[in-house]
Order: sequence, then structure tokens, then C-alpha cells
Amino acid sequence: MRALMSAPLPSPSISVAPNQGKLLYMLARMIGARSVLEIGTLGAYSTIWFARALPTGGRVITLEAEAKHGEVARRNLARAGLSSVVDLRLGLALETLPKVAAEKLGPFDIIFIDADKANTTAYFEWALKLSHIGSLIIVDNVVRDGAVADPKTADASVKGMRRFFDRLAAERRVEATAIQTVGSKGYDGFAIARVIAD
Ligand code: SAH
Ligand code: DHB
Ligand code: MG
Repeated sequence: MRALMSAPLPSPSISVAPNQGKLLYMLARMIGARSVLEIGTLGAYSTIWFARALPTGGRVITLEAEAKHGEVARRNLARAGLSSVVDLRLGLALETLPKVAAEKLGPFDIIFIDADKANTTAYFEWALKLSHIGSLIIVDNVVRDGAVADPKTADASVKGMRRFFDRLAAERRVEATAIQTVGSKGYDGFAIARVIAD
């Protein structure tokens, strides 16, 4: 992550892999999603998959901390003809999420969590607040080559995911599973939670 922050341009290497992007698109189509909230934009690769899944009038709000990534994302969105579908908000997500809530931009049909992994549980709390019954809350990078199954891990991101799974397992307002994926970017996975109660 530190290397990414100091790079002159964001690396596309941490975007979701193409088969995972298509899975996000298919999930959005399957539930007829009209609104998506994404936490962690990078170059807007996953954002574009979601935006292309929405019907006319659909909207993606995507949150990104790094201005440089935001610039690249805006360029990619313009090139894809999706600038009017996607609302990109710069800032730390824990600061922009309260604004999204205060502006009453939700609830969202899908919330995709893919930013700093240590804050995943905090983002999940916001996702619950900004959802309705039937919403999907999808979290990226929950497998990490199987590292998530190691209780002795020293990796702060993996520890964050383990805390998130404990929180998820205890949450009666959702039903959830994790789906492991393998693709051009190796072995990882999504957690998928469906909101079933207020
Ligand atoms: N969803 C993208 C990849 C996102 S990579 C895709 O699949 O195409 C993770 C992104 O989260 C990076 O761009 C990083 O700058 C951003 N990020 C990290 N911490 C953040 C925070 N606290 N708030 C908002 N964005 C953050
Ligand atoms: C990495 C991959 C991701 O999908 C992400 O959101 C953050 C980091 C990585 O491979 O380091
Ligand atoms: Mg990711």
C-alpha cells in the first residue's frame, strides 16, 4: 500500500480481476440494482463494471482517499462515457460516509467495500446503515491466498478481515457467505452478505 501511495500513477494491479468484475456486474444484474456505493475507487475499474450493470437513471457513488487516483478514475470514467452515472467523492471514507448519509443519498442496493482492509468492519457498519432489506454488501480481498484462515497472521490487512468475519458471523440482520475466486490476479475472494432485517 505504501508503494502504491508514492507511485506517480496508481497501479491497476490491485483492481479486481476481470472475472471478478464480471461477477460484480452479474450480481448487480441479478438483483436489478439501481444504486451502488463503492468504498475504494482506484482507477474506477470495478466502478465501471457496476456502472455498466445499471439501468438508465442508475447511479454509483464511489469514495476514494487519494486525489491522484481520483484524477485517473475521472479520466477512465469519461473515456467509458460514464461520468454522468458515477459520483466520485474524494476524501477518507470514514469522513465521506457520514456526508453520504447526511445527504440522504442511500439506501443503496449494493455496497462494495474495497479500501483499507483494517477499516473493513467500520465500513460494514456504515453499509448496514446505508442499506435496505435485500441489499447486498460485498467485501473484496477476504481470502488473500488463504491467509485469512491463519489465526496467527501478523498481516494487519488479514487481521482486519478476520475481525470483519467475526463481526459478520454475529450479525443477525444479514445472511452471508464467502466465495473464493481464482483469476489473473491469483487466489482471493468476496464476502457477500444479503440484508434480511432492519
Ligand atoms: N475497487 C477498485 C480497487 C480499489 S484499491 C477496483 O477493484 O478497481 C483500494 C483503494 O482504496 C485505493 O485507491 C486506495 O487509495 C483507497 N483507499 C485506501 N484507504 C482509503 C480510505 N481510508 N478512504 C477511501 N479510500 C481509501
Ligand atoms: C491488493 C489487492 C486488492 O484488491 C486491494 O483492494 C488492495 C490490495 C493487493 O494485492 O495488494
Ligand atoms: Mg480489492
